[in-house]
Amino acid sequence: MKKRNWVVPSVFVAVALFVGALIAVAADAPDVITMNSKLWPQHTKANVQFTHKKHAEDYKIACADCHHKYEGGKNVWKQGDPVAKCESCHNEPTIEGEKKLPPEQQKLNLKLAMHTNCQECHKKLKAQNPQSAAPTTCVQCHPKKEGQS
Ligand code: HEC
Ligand code: HEC
Ligand code: HEC
Ligand code: HEC
Repeated sequence: MKKRNWVVPSVFVAVALFVGALIAVAADAPDVITMNSKLWPQHTKANVQFTHKKHAEDYKIACADCHHKYEGGKNVWKQGDPVAKCESCHNEPTIEGEKKLPPEQQKLNLKLAMHTNCQECHKKLKAQNPQSAAPTTCVQCHPKKEGQS
């Protein structure tokens, strides 16, 4: 009996925290983010429209699948922590011959960080289900150059 008294309030707290966290996304991140990093003074590809809210809510992807803070090789970022822009750490735009760089340096390249994060997941989804709408070709993410400001 004594145990039960603890279970109910702690479930309530867990649910409240969960709901609170979803509200925090809505408040702190736009529903759709135009990916337009100033690290590229001139984009060669059209800006990607990233459906942040859909990814977090409809596709149910954990925040920590995309947001991280590494300490001792481990991702210690947790919901509620501040979110830094990717480019605050991945601050190399494009490095000549980047594929040949050692992996630690590739990780600090913004284009590779983005492509790795987005593409690894989409390719996995496509492999599991060929009908998946997860984009894997350039033009599906970077639609066209015209009309870009
Ligand atoms: C599929 C990947 C992905 C998921 C899942 C995701 N995010 Fe994001 N989030 C991003 C990207 C990419 C940006 C844009 C970052 C940038 O412009 O450098 C962003 C931006 C943000 C920003 C705005 C940061 C700024 O300074 O502009 C906040 C806040 C945020 N996310 C919180 C969350 C929270 C909380 C969750 C989980 C409920 C979450 N995100 C889930 C990828 C994701
Ligand atoms: C606070 C600094 C910081 C921020 C902000 C950050 N990263 Fe990273 N990221 C790192 C570091 C450091 C590593 C290398 C970790 C390791 O040793 O494996 C890394 C590794 C990665 C990797 C390769 C490892 C993996 O997880 O597969 C990808 C992809 C990546 N980041 C994408 C992103 C994206 C996308 C964002 C923004 C939504 C982002 N990062 C924000 C510091 C950061
Ligand atoms: C951990 C998995 C995961 C990551 C990481 C991820 N996505 Fe997705 N993405 C999905 C899923 C799931 C769908 C929906 C697929 C479907 O509907 O069949 C999707 C769909 C999309 C779509 C098409 C539908 C829509 O909502 O617009 C775009 C565009 C897209 N993602 C862009 C991105 C970009 C840009 C990034 C990186 C910043 C990214 N995604 C990172 C899982 C992911
Ligand atoms: C899943 C979505 C996705 C796919 C697929 C994708 N990209 Fe990207 N790409 C991005 C995102 C997000 C950025 C970061 C843009 C920013 O932050 O300004 C980016 C950045 C770039 C950049 C640097 C910025 C610029 O415009 O010059 C180039 C070049 C690029 N991508 C080329 C490609 C090519 C070529 C392909 C196909 C082989 C491709 N991308 C496929 C999402 C994608």
